[in-house]
Amino acid sequence: MRACSWTLKEAGDIAELILDVPGRRQNVLSREVLGELDQLLATLETRSLRGLVIRSGKPEGFSVGADIHEFRHIPDAARAAELTRAGQMVLTRLSRLPYPSVAAIHGPCLGGGLELALACSYRIACDDDRTTLGLPEVRLGIHPGFGGTVRLPAVIGAVAALSLMLSGRSLAPRRAHALGLVDDCVPEREIVTAARTYLHKVPARARPPWWAAALAVPWLRPYVGAAWSWRLKTQVDCGHYPAPCRILSLWSRQAGLEAEALSCAELLVSPASRHLVHLFEVSEELKRQARAEPHDVRRIHVIGAGVMGAEIAAWAALKGFSVSLQDREPAILAAALRRAHALFARRLPPRAAVFAADRLFLDGKGAGLTRADLVIEAIPEDRDAKRALLAAIEGRLPAHAIMATNTSSIPLDELAAVLTRPERLVGLHFFNPVAKMPLIEVIAGPATAPPVLAAARSLAVALDRLPIVVRSAPGFLVNRVLLPYLLEAMSLAEEGVALAEIDRAATDFGMPMGPITLADIIGLDTCLAVAQNLGAALDLPVPSLLARQVAAGWLGKKSGRGFYTYPRRRAWTFRRPPPDPAVAERLIMRLVNEAARCLRLQLVADADLVDIGLVYGTGFAPFRGGPLAYAEALGKTEVRARLEELTGRHGARFSPDAAWSEVGVFPHLALTK
Ligand code: NAI
Repeated sequence: MRACSWTLKEAGDIAELILDVPGRRQNVLSREVLGELDQLLATLETRSLRGLVIRSGKPEGFSVGADIHEFRHIPDAARAAELTRAGQMVLTRLSRLPYPSVAAIHGPCLGGGLELALACSYRIACDDDRTTLGLPEVRLGIHPGFGGTVRLPAVIGAVAALSLMLSGRSLAPRRAHALGLVDDCVPEREIVTAARTYLHKVPARARPPWWAAALAVPWLRPYVGAAWSWRLKTQVDCGHYPAPCRILSLWSRQAGLEAEALSCAELLVSPASRHLVHLFEVSEELKRQARAEPHDVRRIHVIGAGVMGAEIAAWAALKGFSVSLQDREPAILAAALRRAHALFARRLPPRAAVFAADRLFLDGKGAGLTRADLVIEAIPEDRDAKRALLAAIEGRLPAHAIMATNTSSIPLDELAAVLTRPERLVGLHFFNPVAKMPLIEVIAGPATAPPVLAAARSLAVALDRLPIVVRSAPGFLVNRVLLPYLLEAMSLAEEGVALAEIDRAATDFGMPMGPITLADIIGLDTCLAVAQNLGAALDLPVPSLLARQVAAGWLGKKSGRGFYTYPRRRAWTFRRPPPDPAVAERLIMRLVNEAARCLRLQLVADADLVDIGLVYGTGFAPFRGGPLAYAEALGKTEVRARLEELTGRHGARFSPDAAWSEVGVFPHLALTK
């Protein structure tokens, strides 16, 4: 029997439900898919069977959960609650079948997909690198809504369940097995046989260890919840991100399915979740578009093994590329190799780490150039040195090779001018640290050929990074928008506002760290150099405090002293008064004004790319959706009025950009279905 997404097969007294949602790379549990499952279960529950196996018919994996494209069509919390309850009812029906069921899991089993598996009597996972299990809903500003907050603690205990749900992280199959989330880990070819064996033997169901079960007794829960909540609040601002706090509250109160549905529904239609979901959708769409273009890169040659080059080379080797790394200093190459091995050991299982190390070659003489499909230049930010290097290597590269530069500020046409084939030069602007920052600005020079640009985007996705195409202009996008914000923080410091107050104004707004701390981490000498270069091009005044700090040798964290002294001591102050709202207003308005200017100047194609760039490149308050989504929420007229008022008080650096006078909303990426 075949519904649209599910196929029901019966062999003897065991039924199999195979999920293969048409037209989707991964299985999603849309309303329709759950509706079909409900109908099939209505038939199955009348049958006399030994058991049911649920598995995916897609090689890509089990299921990535609810269809988040449906979220934006949910008008209000009441409708959201109806949908959540409907999903819960289907999974409850599955859990109440008169015979046991097994989820046979390969590949990602996430969110609603894991909730589906949790409603089965047993879970068996493939023992491979592709299989992961988790409930990542908090990353979208919501929490599990199909019974996960109730079923997961019942299976693995409150401590493991809460830490999994609160962090949104995923587990590898063996870890999931150790926690009791899956009953067995087997090679992929054995998975259906193993599932059938479970239905024949019907072993005892997974239960949490006694001490975890003891923590969940009703009278103890509020105390455990309160202790956990105290810790959570030191890490998460529940005003900005309420979902984790709701998970704790639901568990502490033993609130049950209906409360879960109501709470999830409220979060689903909250502005924070709408923004987080939109950012996720845009980033997935950008990756899909980039993946659709081919790239033929297998061998990468990186020149410069300093801060960036070493990390880029290590990351590319980790992601499966064959990499040669060149530097003129052997000691720097040796240090780069040590750092690469440390990265492989941290991120990969032992055997995979050995393979990654085998893919990375040290290449003092540049022998790898003649075989490279892509060369990435990461030598210091010196225009003449970069031009000389690019001119010198061009003749040694194969005809098909792409040339890329990691420059953070030099316009591409200035570098391409020395090349005989300037059309094959593209910018690949990685962010520091490469292993942690998910963004790459793909810089298009005036001469860059479209296929080269497309291959660069596609390669960025193969490196598991999000590519945004930016037109070559001073500072590109992210650094250009960030700089006025940092300079405004220094102006505030120069006026005598306490450093901690400036930082706190930004973190209260939702930034991951304050601008003063950030400047110290970047290095004040680097900030000054960028400010002088970009400041001249963009007519930005540079506060004299910055130059004075650098002249005094106070370069930031790396020199032990910058604005703060390092190591920093924690200041214990209770009930600090909230920072003056005018501080955050000045910081954020300068950033927002520059973001709108970049869009007006068409440095990127639309407003979503500005927002994605700033959220993924700088950590701009994700729950606000990015600087332009924030401005859109305020309204263009309001933003303009605030900028005019700030201009009157503090000077022309706040002059509203012409973008605010344009009528209408900012153009956003047209998301396909
Ligand atoms: P770095 O100074 O740490 O490393 C540069 C390396 O290049 C040095 O090891 C040096 O020995 C080597 N080198 C110089 N000339 C060479 C040549 N002709 N042949 C072979 N090796 C040579 O520099 P860093 O910080 O890694 O920056 C590299 C590039 O990345 C710059 O363009 C910079 O603007 C950009 N960038 C830097 C970021 C950062 O946070 N440091 C972030 C994003 C981009």
